[in-house]
Amino acid sequence: MKYNIAVVAGDGIGPEVTEEAIRVLDRVGERFGHTFLYDRKLGGGAAYDETGDPLPASTIEACGRSDAVLFGAVGGPKWEKLPGRLRPEQAVLGLRKELGLYANLRPVFLFEELADASPLKHESIEAGLDILVVRELTGGIYFGPKGTDTIEDGRVSDPVLASCIDALSPPPGDGRIAYDVEVYTEREIRRIGVAAFAAARKRRNGVVSVDKANVLESSRLWRGIMEELHEDYPDVKLEHMYVDNAAMQLIRDPNQFDVIVTNNIFGDILSDESARIAGSIGMLPSASLADGDFGLYEPIHGSAPDIAGKDRANPVASILSAAMMLRYSLSLSKEADAIEAAVKAFLENGFRTPDICVDWSVRVGTREAGELIANYI
Ligand code: IPM
Ligand code: MG
Repeated sequence: MKYNIAVVAGDGIGPEVTEEAIRVLDRVGERFGHTFLYDRKLGGGAAYDETGDPLPASTIEACGRSDAVLFGAVGGPKWEKLPGRLRPEQAVLGLRKELGLYANLRPVFLFEELADASPLKHESIEAGLDILVVRELTGGIYFGPKGTDTIEDGRVSDPVLASCIDALSPPPGDGRIAYDVEVYTEREIRRIGVAAFAAARKRRNGVVSVDKANVLESSRLWRGIMEELHEDYPDVKLEHMYVDNAAMQLIRDPNQFDVIVTNNIFGDILSDESARIAGSIGMLPSASLADGDFGLYEPIHGSAPDIAGKDRANPVASILSAAMMLRYSLSLSKEADAIEAAVKAFLENGFRTPDICVDWSVRVGTREAGELIANYI
């Protein structure tokens, strides 16, 4: 079979790690008799530099007609001063929104070979680590109304802010003001809830819904809808947890979690925290799914400009993202298994990129890691 993969490698270490994922996919193609065709497109700071737009229409279009998207990472100090809508991050945010990728699956696991790389005490991760963070990806404060203005004589021109200002107590003094709105509809909450309950049924039947319902209206709606949905999944255990407590519980006893379902911003924060307890943020992949099979696959790490171009980045997260792509979008689960087994063999044989390197291991760079993993396919 032939598969069309849109590739948006992006900035920083994005291109380096994505090339290694492609190397591994090509080996999978040889071994299993598939052809992967790559349509490489600009996105992020790289696209801004070339076209003035971090997410050119041609990139959206190519991704939309592909079977799946392989994404690297975007952003860097070079573009930090740009206004929000021109920042490199718009590439990934825009693709998520344009392609309807509302369900972000971020598995958190610990290869037993890397138990020493986790900052947690051995007893709390003795049984390994296996959590699935299901993050809502196209709503909430990321995409709600936002803006900045200046208050003069107690007034602003932005209509949303004008209504907020009346509610502020004490009244704001003059000066600059900025806002972002957390807004969720029932439909948005329901569909991410369904994704989480369905995922739990294929795992250990537990969902912890993380919110801030003691403070936020949007969280109270979230919690209520999770309760309603639960009636359709009586075999799944549902618990609610406030996000501050969840951040603490993840470190205290991560194995109490099976599936965590949460909103866009809490999911962003908790997935970085989870990644660290899994040894290195360089290890974890993610899938961002629309209804149906279509998805975008990216490592959860960022563009790491400090190590870009130095052959130091860990390509495993990107390689495992390619495995998720095979499993979820292309229905090639044997092939996905082969990639995961190759990563395991790589670690078992003592190879480590600098982020997870220990005394006795064999230190390898990005490219050599990719070559070794490809050879284990
Ligand atoms: C992530 C990243 C993105 C996010 C950034 C790059 C916009 O941190 O995928 O977790 O906040 O969603
Ligand atoms: Mg993040």
